[in-house]
Amino acid sequence: MSDFNSKTLGKCLCIITGASKGFGRCLAQQVPPLLVAGSALILVARTGQLLQELKTELVNLGVSQGLVVRCVAADLSTAEGVAETLQAAKQQNVNDYDHVLLINNAVRTATPDTMHLISCLPLVD
Ligand SMILES: NC(=O)c1ccc[n+]([C@@H]2O[C@H](COP(=O)([O-])OP(=O)(O)OC[C@H]3O[C@@H](n4cnc5c(N)ncnc54)[C@H](OP(=O)(O)O)[C@@H]3O)[C@@H](O)[C@H]2O)c1
Repeated sequence: MSDFNSKTLGKCLCIITGASKGFGRCLAQQVPPLLVAGSALILVARTGQLLQELKTELVNLGVSQGLVVRCVAADLSTAEGVAETLQAAKQQNVNDYDHVLLINNAVRTATPDTMHLISCLPLVD
């Protein structure tokens, strides 16, 4: 287990949905400095190009140092999009992290499938 105090979120597998713009993008810029090295950040939205631009921005700012950053271009209103996102999460070893943090900001997409994503996350391994 890594150190955890009020200034960090610890070593997280962090998933931010709706990260390509708006509030989600802002969160994706603010969260990385709170993650300790070895954390993973999974950015999800339909527009892959905007996610890649965000990833480049995080790299250029140096805030993603020590983090694995993955972009998942997926439509979370579909079962396929949810499955793709879960697949990306499953590629990380959940035992390596202190926490799994889901910031499900693309909430207007909430469907039984997105609820499935939420319910499956504790089982990611
Ligand atoms: N902005 C506000 O003042 C405010 C206030 C209170 C609450 N909220 C809530 O905060 C959330 C974000 O608001 P926002 O203003 O930041 O919205 P926004 O600018 O429209 O951004 C929405 C994000 O969700 C993604 N998204 C939309 N549909 C998606 C789908 N089917 N699958 C995957 N990703 C999808 C969009 O990316 P793609 O188009 O690339 O998929 C984008 O990254 C909303 O739920 C909103 O109700 C916002």
